[in-house]
Amino acid sequence: MISSSEKEKLIAACLKAREASYSPYSDFCVGAALLGEDGRIYKGCNIENAAFTPTVCAERVALFVAVSEGVRQFSALAVCGGKKDAALPLAICAPCGVCRQALREFCGDEMPVFLVQDAEHFEEVTFASLLPKSFGPENL
Ligand code: THU
Repeated sequence: MISSSEKEKLIAACLKAREASYSPYSDFCVGAALLGEDGRIYKGCNIENAAFTPTVCAERVALFVAVSEGVRQFSALAVCGGKKDAALPLAICAPCGVCRQALREFCGDEMPVFLVQDAEHFEEVTFASLLPKSFGPENL
């Protein structure tokens, strides 16, 4: 259970992360923020590439930054996305399938995920609702 002040900061962090999006090919800017068990927030934005396939989503950038800093457990995720010039509130942007599986390695079923439209508007779901009957480390 995260506090309301942590939730507020996480939501603000994903909106801030979106500002750094490098998405000249889609013009679709995504921001993600993960709250680590260490209490720190790890941000990521989508980073596109002229060759297209090396493009990486905001959620995986945030996850890989955190893991590369030694953090492997998370208490919440916030995500927002929309066209570069879209007015707030944005439409809901849920993590893509690849990111759900990447997150599955480190995130628990009950972890809250905030699908953020702006600082005041968001939908809260559990991670398991995004990836039911999933495959993870304990299946090997
Ligand atoms: N994108 C993300 O960053 N996260 C998602 O979960 C969905 C898609 C990015 C990838 C690409 O740069 C752009 O949004 C359009 O697909």
